[in-house]
Amino acid sequence: MAAIELNKVVKAYGDVQTVHGIDLSIKDHEFVVLVGPSGCGKSTTLRMIAGLETITGGEIKIGERRVNDLLPGERDIAMVFQNYALYPHLSVEDNITFGLRLKKTPRGEIQTRLIETARILDIGHLLKRKPRQLSGGQRQRVAMGRAMIRNPAVFLFDEPLSNLDAKLRVQMRAEIKQIHEAVPTTTVYVTHDQIEAMTLADRVVVMNAGKIEQIAPPQELYLKPATKFVAGFIGSPGMNFVSAALERHGEQLIGVLSDGSRLELPGGISRFADAVGRTVDLGIRPEHLSLSPNGGQISTRIEAVAELVEPLGMDTLVHFIIAGTKAVARVSPDASLRRGTRLTLCVDPKSIYVFDRENGSALHGD
Ligand SMILES: Nc1ncnc2c1ncn2[C@@H]1O[C@H](COP(=O)(O)OP(=O)(O)OP(=O)(O)O)[C@@H](O)[C@H]1O
Ligand SMILES: [Mg+2]
Repeated sequence: MAAIELNKVVKAYGDVQTVHGIDLSIKDHEFVVLVGPSGCGKSTTLRMIAGLETITGGEIKIGERRVNDLLPGERDIAMVFQNYALYPHLSVEDNITFGLRLKKTPRGEIQTRLIETARILDIGHLLKRKPRQLSGGQRQRVAMGRAMIRNPAVFLFDEPLSNLDAKLRVQMRAEIKQIHEAVPTTTVYVTHDQIEAMTLADRVVVMNAGKIEQIAPPQELYLKPATKFVAGFIGSPGMNFVSAALERHGEQLIGVLSDGSRLELPGGISRFADAVGRTVDLGIRPEHLSLSPNGGQISTRIEAVAELVEPLGMDTLVHFIIAGTKAVARVSPDASLRRGTRLTLCVDPKSIYVFDRENGSALHGD
């Protein structure tokens, strides 16, 4: 097992730079997930760690070794891709042991490791089958088995679950987590699915346009997003944003929206001192809005009209417009809610986020 270190890693294809000098330290045993929208450079970063792409600039270390110039086979890594790339003509057993046989590992040792791998993945009964005789989830497990049996220092996964249906994804996600708990190999896992990222990761790396926006444990990412991009990316439905002018009334900070309505903002005036008088972006998560017509002080209320109502069973999404901007609230189920219903939404000022309009950074403080 090993730590991984990326120092100012750059990737360019010809004149076009796609990864802009990223720094990332992954600890031994850690499960790190790279997440971000399509094209943000997740696969490119993973493939540079794997040695499948050359590094244009910077340095990558696995364990104590600088691996920039090492071939994939010399890096002590194992990779699982989205399309499992199993050999169709080989049995499950032969697919899994292929690499070890190539390395002329003694037969007895291969057998021992095969039995152990099949036990962890619960595929002992499938060993004689060919890949085409397996379900998607079973193929995915075989691909993992092929990686695990080599007992590499590092696992690299690139969207390994995206070919599976929704239910199986959830099941395999839990299995991957359990396997990592049983065999805590350092892992870098790429996905564009924020739920997968949040559920699997010790730490999540949010990427955007070839840069890292934030590196943090899942809960911290949700509670303390460093930027507006992270705030909007993590959470479903995403955070609502609306621009407002910041005003100070004594020790109280108020956001004045473009329609003149006013929202009381979180306390601790000092952290926003520089922003008073400026226009900022306010962020409110859908789950922090509640429907309570009689409750709440005036300053924490938002008056709106339901534009669209989506009952989800456990709760209901209500779409509305706030100061000309689309927004959504996740509220308790209410059969009387329908398009056109007048809403009084309440929000605790403490759960309102404030972002710099220019660079998107969160105005955090105390
Ligand atoms: N061989 C290549 N030549 C030129 N540009 C490339 C090449 N491979 C990738 N890119 C560009 O690099 C950027 C990052 O691509 P990458 O595959 O890393 O994205 P990703 O985050 O994995 O996206 P996805 O979620 O769609 O898989 C993209 O803009 C892509 O078009
Ligand atoms: Mg990709």
